[in-house]
Amino acid sequence: MHDDIFDVNHNPMQHFQQWFYKVEQHNSIVEVNTMTLSTIGIDGYPKNRIVLLKRFAWDGFTFFTSYTSEKGIAITHHDKVSLHFDWRKAHKQVIIQGTTTKIASNLSDGYFDSRPEGSKLGAWASKQSETLSSKKVLTSRLEHYNRQFKNKSIPRPEYWGGYLVTPMVMEFIDTSSVRSHLHEKYSLQNDYSWKKESFYNY
Ligand SMILES: Cc1cc2nc3c(=O)[nH]c(=O)nc-3n(C[C@H](O)[C@H](O)[C@H](O)COP(=O)(O)O)c2cc1C
Repeated sequence: MHDDIFDVNHNPMQHFQQWFYKVEQHNSIVEVNTMTLSTIGIDGYPKNRIVLLKRFAWDGFTFFTSYTSEKGIAITHHDKVSLHFDWRKAHKQVIIQGTTTKIASNLSDGYFDSRPEGSKLGAWASKQSETLSSKKVLTSRLEHYNRQFKNKSIPRPEYWGGYLVTPMVMEFIDTSSVRSHLHEKYSLQNDYSWKKESFYNY
């Protein structure tokens, strides 16, 4: 690794942290951790949906989901994904491309334990891969698991947990100037250093 690892100009995770906290302080943006996850489906098409970023650190970005959901199945077949943060009210976008791995089960247990009871029951009642014919089916499943776990701690279903996205490319787009958006693009090199390119487009 290079000595300048903590220099914001050469370290995209530092850059991300700086932008994240800046956006978090922005009055009009409530959910700074809302991101669009794009996967490549088994049909070969990309597909997007919103998920919540629950952790970011030097090693990447973590979100939680059902491993048997459509996105989970897509990731099993094709581990390359993209994340998009739309912070347009703060004139910022971040686009990340990377590879995805399941986090260790004890880490998923730890996060699952911290969730409210309703969310825990929701994970048991809906595997996300199934298309339930009516809301009634979901409600009766919730009631079933509510009875099953009454006065007991609710364990994490094994099909539910976290994914870590390890970034390979991180692009920061500053859209504050109307006709010239500044892109700062970092690409991971073979020696684990980051190559940075800056350019304008619109
Ligand atoms: C604000 C918001 C946050 C969401 N966060 C998550 C999340 O963290 N994990 C998740 O699995 N689904 C989350 N969802 C639901 C997903 O967008 C999606 O509908 C669901 O996971 C099924 O996606 P799939 O069938 O493509 O796998 C969220 C939805 C919204 C509107």
